[in-house]
Amino acid sequence: MRILTTHLELVALTAGDADDLFPVLDDPALGRFTGDDPPVSVESLRGRFAVWAGRRSPEGDELWLNWVVRRRADGRAVGYVQATVGADDATIAWVVGTAFQRQGIATEAGAALMAWLHDALGVSVLNGRIHPEHVASQTVAARIGLRPTDRRYDGEVVWTDAPAPPGS
Ligand SMILES: CC(C)(COP(=O)(O)OP(=O)(O)OC[C@H]1O[C@@H](n2cnc3c(N)ncnc32)[C@H](O)[C@@H]1OP(=O)(O)O)[C@@H](O)C(=O)NCCC(=O)NCCS
Repeated sequence: MRILTTHLELVALTAGDADDLFPVLDDPALGRFTGDDPPVSVESLRGRFAVWAGRRSPEGDELWLNWVVRRRADGRAVGYVQATVGADDATIAWVVGTAFQRQGIATEAGAALMAWLHDALGVSVLNGRIHPEHVASQTVAARIGLRPTDRRYDGEVVWTDAPAPPGS
């Protein structure tokens, strides 16, 4: 589960990462397009990460994989990436702390995540769900090889790396 890139280390998320990630995620700006609220406390974040560290959805039918993203240079936690892996495809997502944005971190982490899911886990199709006005996330998705579809999920546009249907 450890994924290395030029500047980043992606490490399987554990409850203990809450200490490093709480100050990064304690920021309402991060939920502007997702509607997610900041964690209310380190303890609640630790509890959420403990569930995620089980790597299974409560029903057991999906893999829930999460990685803390750290800079290799200094080990600093800058965000996290996640993949929800079902029978036929996986949905990926990325969060980078405001102080660390616009440095190519989501693009570098997202590309590595996609490669790992395809090559190490054998997932054939990867999807993302992005708010129609979320330019930063759209930029990341396009750069790592996803394209927008005409499908919607909870008002978000579904992006995919599945080949476009013929004639579209
Ligand atoms: C989306 C997100 C992960 C991008 O992280 P990031 O590390 O800044 O992404 P990158 O630096 O790899 O690339 C983002 C690109 O979008 C651009 N960008 C960022 N904000 C932008 C904005 N408001 N308008 C236009 N472009 C924007 C960046 O400049 C960059 O392009 P550049 O390399 O040409 O400068 C980050 O903004 C985030 O965590 N947001 C909150 C959580 C979230 O919404 N996650 C996505 C859910 S779909």
